[in-house]
Amino acid sequence: MAGFSWYLSEGFQVIIEKSKDKKCSLKDVQLRFLCPDDLEEVRSLCRDWFPIEYPQSWYEDITSSDRFFALAAVYKNQIIGLIVAEIKPYLKLNAEDRGILSRWFASKDTLVAYILSLGVVRSHRRSGVATMLLDVLINHLSGPVPQPPHEHRVKAIFLHVLTTNNEAILFYEHKRFLLHSFLPYYYSIKGRCKDGFTYVYYVNGGHAPWSLIDYMKFMARTAWRGGGLYPWLWGKLRAALTIAWHSFTSSSNTVKFRGAVFKQ
Ligand SMILES: CC(C)(COP(=O)(O)OP(=O)(O)OC[C@H]1O[C@@H](n2cnc3c(N)ncnc32)[C@H](O)[C@@H]1OP(=O)(O)O)[C@@H](O)C(=O)NCCC(=O)NCCS
Repeated sequence: MAGFSWYLSEGFQVIIEKSKDKKCSLKDVQLRFLCPDDLEEVRSLCRDWFPIEYPQSWYEDITSSDRFFALAAVYKNQIIGLIVAEIKPYLKLNAEDRGILSRWFASKDTLVAYILSLGVVRSHRRSGVATMLLDVLINHLSGPVPQPPHEHRVKAIFLHVLTTNNEAILFYEHKRFLLHSFLPYYYSIKGRCKDGFTYVYYVNGGHAPWSLIDYMKFMARTAWRGGGLYPWLWGKLRAALTIAWHSFTSSSNTVKFRGAVFKQ
């Protein structure tokens, strides 16, 4: 994304060049859900990928609870990538995440998916593994066949990312996630506060809150297509004419007599 090269400061190793040789063929990669036996392997991968130390209960949850969509990419019996997402009611989000959807979606039926974790083993990056994992999640939430229990009620997939994590930012932008907000001091990493971004990918008709420009674009597009706006305008005009006609006829049927008004 243009515009935040000023965040490219400390710490994060940024690998921008595309690796020449693909590390594994996606045909040989299998996908399966995490299970309790994966706990140690998942913990050692996450320690390598993320600067955040997760508690033991977090690893237990993601490897055993069906509250999470926790999918692993496996190559030669080793986990080489994983994605963990949680589907939750939109109204239960923290205040900083509430604005990701337009207020039209503020109902108890609306769900969102939060990506807690996505990572790929270094030696297998730039082979399409993260893309494959994310595409499975997107398809699960918004594919042609609605999946119970959430059907097509998930309207947005979102995540938080360190502003310095350029690899992940380039990946999510490549996957058409939209930058939604800047979260100053969102993370506490080894006692230091770090800024974050929120990225969102809209599914199943979900969309961001509309700005004035969006409304104007919508009106212009509808007027251009001719559908919708003209019947609406015609309806309003007819209602106005009807009201005007009624007030005209009722005033002509009334007689004023010394300040009092009588209907005939
Ligand atoms: C971010 C991450 C998951 C991407 O995994 P990946 O398997 O390498 O991603 P993909 O191969 O599917 O990449 C798809 C596209 O994203 C973009 N992309 C991914 N990594 C990139 C990088 N390092 N530099 C530039 N573009 C990158 C490219 O456009 C790439 O397509 P291309 O290879 O055809 O050019 C991986 O770098 C990672 O595990 N990082 C550490 C953990 C992490 O930070 N996770 C995110 C937490 S929010």
